[in-house]
Amino acid sequence: MSHEIDRRMVLGAAGAAVVTGVLGRGALAQASAPAKKVIAVNTSLRAGKTTAAGLTLCLEAVKEMNSALEIELIELAGLSMPAQVLVGGALREGETDDFPAVAEKLRDPAVVGLIVGSPVYFNNMSGLCKTFIDRCMEFRKNGFELRNKVFGALAVGAARNGGQELTISAIHAGFMGQDVIVVGDGKPSGRIGATLWNQNDAIAQDEFGIGTAKGLGRRVAELAGMLQG
Ligand SMILES: Cc1cc2nc3c(=O)[nH]c(=O)nc-3n(C[C@H](O)[C@H](O)[C@H](O)COP(=O)(O)O)c2cc1C
Repeated sequence: MSHEIDRRMVLGAAGAAVVTGVLGRGALAQASAPAKKVIAVNTSLRAGKTTAAGLTLCLEAVKEMNSALEIELIELAGLSMPAQVLVGGALREGETDDFPAVAEKLRDPAVVGLIVGSPVYFNNMSGLCKTFIDRCMEFRKNGFELRNKVFGALAVGAARNGGQELTISAIHAGFMGQDVIVVGDGKPSGRIGATLWNQNDAIAQDEFGIGTAKGLGRRVAELAGMLQG
């Protein structure tokens, strides 16, 4: 089964760098129904590096599992997501807030799956990932807008056992507050999510981790398909 995936770097409404997967020939035949989508959010401070590479593997696996699903990678690096607005604080002079544009994409009912990726920073998620999770408070307040979206997490560390599972567990815990449906990488391994090892700024040598990333993408697509009918 081969599908054309045209990956283009585009700018989102907030200037967010995103990679969009455009439907291939097979899916275009179903153009009458609005396409469902899986979004991956990269909370690494380095766009396009190892966390992005892992998330891209997940999205490719989503597409292989279900070619009708659209895929999109959102890079948060460089975006402004001020934390003070959570507690009613005003934007500082000249400060912008890029979160609303990201939120608009995520709350779209067509989004059936969400995968969040973070580098491991001291056995935990990046600060950007935590800020993102906190800003997601907005979805709860608006009536749990992420409710029942299938959710998976990915972590990349510079050590094989550098805290990837702890990081994924913390991301899961944050998103449990959104009433998402948390999945891991599915059978046959049945692990917590995608645990990748950065060696020389690449994940290409990490056969085990690549397997978990692909497994997570497949599992998100599988469950999203079951829930959406
Ligand atoms: C502040 C900081 C803390 C880090 N802590 C860990 C750690 O606890 N465990 C680990 O395996 N790697 C750690 N790393 C390495 C990164 O997780 C690793 O380089 C990752 O692949 C970076 O993702 P990126 O390529 O998307 O930037 C740390 C890196 C930084 C900058």
